[in-house]
Amino acid sequence: MKLLKRIGVLLIIVLVGIQFIPTTRNENNEVLTTEFIKAFNPPKNISYLLKTSCYDCHSNNTNYPWYNKIQPISWFLERHIKEAKEELNFSEFGEYSIRKQKSKLKSISNQIKDDEMPLSSYTLIHRDAKLSEKDKSELEKWLTELRDSL
Ligand code: HEC
Repeated sequence: MKLLKRIGVLLIIVLVGIQFIPTTRNENNEVLTTEFIKAFNPPKNISYLLKTSCYDCHSNNTNYPWYNKIQPISWFLERHIKEAKEELNFSEFGEYSIRKQKSKLKSISNQIKDDEMPLSSYTLIHRDAKLSEKDKSELEKWLTELRDSL
């Protein structure tokens, strides 16, 4: 029992201690000309869907939830955002070569069609980010048209 108590106390000290370690926030209000919506000017509904369902992880600007103030949750989110941006960053999409843009558009379509994206750990909390069948087919149609026009 004594050992358990010690472990408990240690755990609390660690949990309190890690709250003071700063994390880098993914926030940048500057809208680059390479920004996806700026570059391709999609209809309002498409912009809305991408912003609501993808931009928190795949852009330079995350709209953080309150619990991002709590460690180790903020590390978890930070890692997710970093990984997501390495794969696809809508803020810098216009910088990609045409070949890369086309292949990313294809992969965006696939991820949406297969319900891989947005991540289910995200839609569990952000209910409005979940894509309906109608949303998915509208996105698919517009993304395909864009891909063919490049
Ligand atoms: C909660 C964060 C989060 C959200 C929201 C999110 N993604 Fe992702 N996405 C990731 C992460 C993390 C990865 C990299 C790891 C992986 O593939 O699972 C990724 C990878 C991807 C990839 C590359 C996958 C590959 O293997 O080629 C595409 C494309 C993608 N996401 C598209 C989207 C689209 C489109 C949306 C919105 C409909 C979206 N994501 C929403 C976190 C997210």
